[in-house]
Amino acid sequence: MSVGGSLDIWKSLGLTDSPYNSLPITSDELGDKLLVGREAELRSLSISLLNLHTHPTLEGGNGVGKTSLVSVAGYRLFQSYLAGESKFVLPLQKNFQLSARENVSAFRVKVFLQVVQALIANRDTLPVQKLSIPTIPVLEGWRRALRAISVSSENGGVSESSVGTDSSELAEAIDEVKTWLETQFKDPQSGFFLCVIDNLELLETSSEAKALLEEMRDEVLNIPGLRWVLCGARGIVRSVASTGRLVGFLGDPVDILPVRDEHIGALIEARLNAFKIEDVVSAPVEIDGFLMLYHIGHKNLRIAMKYCQDFTLWALMRGVDFSKTEEKVALLEEWLTSMASKILQNSVVGKRAWAVFDALTRKGGSLKPSDFPEFGFKSYQAMVPHLQSLSSANLIESVVDNVDARKKTISVLPLGWVVNYERLKNHAGAQ
Ligand SMILES: Nc1ncnc2c1ncn2[C@@H]1O[C@H](COP(=O)(O)OP(=O)(O)O)[C@@H](O)[C@H]1O
Ligand SMILES: [Mg+2]
Repeated sequence: MSVGGSLDIWKSLGLTDSPYNSLPITSDELGDKLLVGREAELRSLSISLLNLHTHPTLEGGNGVGKTSLVSVAGYRLFQSYLAGESKFVLPLQKNFQLSARENVSAFRVKVFLQVVQALIANRDTLPVQKLSIPTIPVLEGWRRALRAISVSSENGGVSESSVGTDSSELAEAIDEVKTWLETQFKDPQSGFFLCVIDNLELLETSSEAKALLEEMRDEVLNIPGLRWVLCGARGIVRSVASTGRLVGFLGDPVDILPVRDEHIGALIEARLNAFKIEDVVSAPVEIDGFLMLYHIGHKNLRIAMKYCQDFTLWALMRGVDFSKTEEKVALLEEWLTSMASKILQNSVVGKRAWAVFDALTRKGGSLKPSDFPEFGFKSYQAMVPHLQSLSSANLIESVVDNVDARKKTISVLPLGWVVNYERLKNHAGAQ
């Protein structure tokens, strides 16, 4: 079963697609099956959405599963609306991200466009009369007009002037969509389109995020018939939600913690089941292996998925036949060692830099420049050369703020966690 025979490696393993996809879970039937271990979070998010008037906010590390959680919550709410069990909830098909240069008026157009797209895509399943949904030609007309500005804003945002030169068609479409939303959703109990602002931490500084969201408050966060879920990492959501002008608009941040170990077996099984072609699947990584990788990657599901894919490729390239391999975990260990030694051989990391790395991994894998005293340095400057050597060894990465170069976050890369695991193992062995 080498790749020489078939280029479709998943099929050769008895799978329709990669069960280790590291993209967020989608808002559909498949996604509903793949999301495991989040019943409590789904329930609490749905309750907030259906009963409160604030926009829920989710805070949690990268790769922990925030986007997936919101996708499936939206899918389930839409299903229960269709089944007549709850009010109108229609998730938009695309999540939004904010950039520091975001133009709020242009952003609003992008949102309206998504609302129109969602109506077009679901017009067949929705009660057209009850919701007074316009005809397809009208919706298509709106879409065309709104798309003009969204397309031009894809690359680098729209300037004030191009918003100023609205064609009358665009202005009209904006007005009509707005009026439709205001009429249909005058009563907040009528329901909402579920909209997501994802990866708020891309704004880097919470003051940027605050300023932008405050600006968006009346023009975007206050549009009838739209409910927002805000997701972010590194404390940005927490800090935004406590801003004076946004209190009452945003819900209290809910911490999304890593999926608990006890669910990991079911999580990986759900994936293998969803993608199996027949009952015999030769999965490269099964429960034990996945749990091991999950811990090595510091309970970051995205990293664990990436490890699985990388391992699969590595093994198949070496001609491993997973249908005959008993010792899959031992093989995983071999892959980990080879990955770690590849990094270690090609890099010179000094003793002091290793001490920084060890302290960083113990701390959870990320640091801010102001954390230097914790690492035993007198200044951040003194720490920089060591971080640079770790960074050139591909163990850590530093995300720099576009505006303020002193503000950055340094975090352990996926292969850094592998190296950390090997180091700890060797250390234990040496004692
Ligand atoms: N509850 C879950 N069950 C199964 N897979 C999940 C779950 N949550 C997340 N994943 C998977 O983990 C990875 C990261 O999830 P994602 O939602 O993108 O995280 P975040 O938005 O927090 O960065 C994706 O591959 C996703 O499919
Ligand atoms: Mg996400």
